[in-house]
Amino acid sequence: MKETLTFAQLSDPHLSTLQGVRWRDLANKRVLGYLSWRRRRRAEHSGEVLEALQRDLARTRPEHLVITGDLTHIGLPDEFRQARRWLETLGGPHEVTVVPGNHDAYIHAPWKHSFSHWQPYMASDGEADTDPEHLFPSLRVRGPVAFIGLSSARPSGPFFATGSLGPEQLGKLARLLDETGRRGLFRVVLIHHPPVPGEEKWRKRLKDARALCKVIGEHGAELVLHGHRHRASESGIEIPGQKVPVFGIPSASSLGHKPGRMAQYYLYRLQPAGDRWKLDISVRGYSPRGHAFAQVHERVVEIPRQTT
Ligand SMILES: [Fe+2]
Ligand SMILES: [Fe+2]
Repeated sequence: MKETLTFAQLSDPHLSTLQGVRWRDLANKRVLGYLSWRRRRRAEHSGEVLEALQRDLARTRPEHLVITGDLTHIGLPDEFRQARRWLETLGGPHEVTVVPGNHDAYIHAPWKHSFSHWQPYMASDGEADTDPEHLFPSLRVRGPVAFIGLSSARPSGPFFATGSLGPEQLGKLARLLDETGRRGLFRVVLIHHPPVPGEEKWRKRLKDARALCKVIGEHGAELVLHGHRHRASESGIEIPGQKVPVFGIPSASSLGHKPGRMAQYYLYRLQPAGDRWKLDISVRGYSPRGHAFAQVHERVVEIPRQTT
């Protein structure tokens, strides 16, 4: 087995445009989302930043890319098609892993007009045709890493941006964490919403965050990556004798109209180091002056290795 892996996380690109959308396509909550896009989001999320991001990824060349949701604004069929075309410019389904965000499940939409466009990028290895109901948790193994994708994307009422996983997904997650832990893999849990209770506003929270932390606490994981907050955050989930690092990152396309919101993505280099994993983290941020991403800071985290 290959013992090292370089991978990158980006989140919340909100890359689609709603230019030309017809009012008759906007039901209920989508009207509010459309107005918010016109008022604020279309100036905040920039195609120019995403082009710079792509140029930087061509330089840093991660072996795998994970995207933690909110590719769209209001989950319209055309937005799913725009996002699929964008995904194809980043890599094939084997190189890119997607979990959905709340904006992608803005209101209930038929699978074939929505997530079917992204299914190859979300499905577990060798299970591209899985029944949509059973797509998550997904499992993709690349070198020493098990990427375990969760879907917290559920439609919520107007002015709400909550998410939830449900008991079935949590039960399967427990089994996957056990199985991949026994294999000695570095388990990276991917979820759109912040997983630690109390860290997000009530109307934007993951409703079953407590249950998720219990599963991770009992079955273990090495790293949890999320988006949703559009800013950098760091916390941890208690497991016996240690804490699982939890990182949240800003939007990949943001021009940073609010402090701390400028676009970033994280580049990780993982390698074994005796009874530990050594994880080099390079935070790469967008500079409007240079129209380019560059390293903002770098650090190393050591994480205990599962003994097999
Ligand atoms: Fe978002
Ligand atoms: Fe979100």
